[in-house]
Order: sequence, then C-alpha cells, then structure tokens
Amino acid sequence: MPVKVVFVCLGNICRSPMAEGVFRDMVRKAGLEGEIEVDSAGTSAWHIGEYPHPGTDAVLHQHGIRNNHKARQLGRDDLHDADYLIAMDRENLDGIRRLGPSDGEVALLLDYAPGVEETEVPDPYYGGGFDTVYELVEAGSRALLAHIRQREGL
Ligand code: 4NP
Repeated sequence: MPVKVVFVCLGNICRSPMAEGVFRDMVRKAGLEGEIEVDSAGTSAWHIGEYPHPGTDAVLHQHGIRNNHKARQLGRDDLHDADYLIAMDRENLDGIRRLGPSDGEVALLLDYAPGVEETEVPDPYYGGGFDTVYELVEAGSRALLAHIRQREGL
C-alpha cells in the first residue's frame, strides 16, 4: 500500500492543487512514484469540479509542472484513507479536525519547514501572490518529503 498524502485548502483550486503538483513532481524525481500517492481536497464545496485557478496553473507551468486535478471536497473517508493530511493554513487545519479524528498525521505544511518564517500559506484567491505561495509550497513540500521518507523508511 502506498503512503497517501492529501493536501488541503479552502477551495481546492489555488494552494492545495499547487502543493499536489509540486509534491508529486518531487516524488517522481525521487523515484518514489509507486510508494507515495498524492491528492488534494478543499474544506469547502464552493469550487467542486473546477480545474486549478489560472494563477496556480501559470506558476506551475513556469516550473514545468502540470496538475489537471478537479476540485473536490474533503470528506470523512479522507480521515481514514490518508496517512498525511496537510493543511495550508490554520482555518483549513480546523476544518479537517472538525470532520473528526484522523488515522493519519494532520499538520500544517509549514510545520515541516521550521527554517521558513511564515507558518501558514496565504490564500491568494482575492489578493494574488501566487509566486509567494509557490515559494512557500516548494519549501514546505521539500521538508515534508524528507520527513515522510525518514518516518516511512523510504
Ligand atoms: P484555495 O483558495 O483555498 O487556495 O483554493 C481559495 C479559493 C476560493 C475561495 C477562497 C480561497 N473562495 O472564496 O471562493
């Protein structure tokens, strides 16, 4: 059974599909495609079925990454299926916890990157800042992958 990682934000169109794309690319480059499965979801139902926001798509494209994920809402099944539920900000973290107890590890993405000053990945939906979001997602994903490799013996 592969280790399952689910990134979580509010709408599942900006931050978490960006993290999904970046993290999957890192997993592939590490040769761990068969060992680690990557997905994302939103705590809200607002954008179900939508492809990533153009801002996310553009910044991923700049880095040679694509993600054709369609937005979905986080559900109770995720609490059991996911080994790692990774929230972008505290509001999303609360949203995960409100669904119930999880069998996996539930944390903020930037918890894994103590060298990064920010503790949350900011919501770019209204104010923009997709490049900043990318930098934080990249740093957090790199640190998360190191953590998972060590913890899972990969
Ligand atoms: P995300 O960004 O949580 O990173 O996907 C948002 C997307 C949509 C909304 C808010 C944040 N919204 O208010 O519709």
